[in-house]
Amino acid sequence: MVRSHEYFFHLTKSRHYYFDTDAVKEPTADGTGTRYRRTVWQVGVNTRRGLHTAAFPDDLITPCILSSCPEGGVVLDPFMGSGTVGRVAKKLNRQFVGFELNSDYYQECVAALTAV
Ligand SMILES: C[S@@+](CC[C@H](N)C(=O)[O-])C[C@H]1O[C@@H](n2cnc3c(N)ncnc32)[C@H](O)[C@@H]1O
Repeated sequence: MVRSHEYFFHLTKSRHYYFDTDAVKEPTADGTGTRYRRTVWQVGVNTRRGLHTAAFPDDLITPCILSSCPEGGVVLDPFMGSGTVGRVAKKLNRQFVGFELNSDYYQECVAALTAV
């Protein structure tokens, strides 16, 4: 059996927190409108090629950033890998702070972030 799903954990420090559900509505099945995103998302696999072999698809992280961080806010990714989160955050006009242990991956992140 091949596991083909991942879990998202949305952790917050307080009971009241920023969350913009309207920013991440999805098209209805009949294409006539939008609806609130469901708990299971269908996302295509990443097709970018680089040093890192486990990069997120942009479409996976985009709704997370749009819904949970306002424009101009700060996105933190402690495990940057290829830099997907930072690159998408920058495209969406969010600030970004990240960490990466591997210096080759780190260089790839810098290149990805500079190219945005
Ligand atoms: C699964 S990858 C992240 C992939 C990333 N989401 C992307 O889209 O490219 C996890 C990364 O965390 C890095 N890492 C592991 N432990 C770390 C640590 N203690 N501090 C910083 N980076 C770390 C690894 O080198 C690896 O590149």
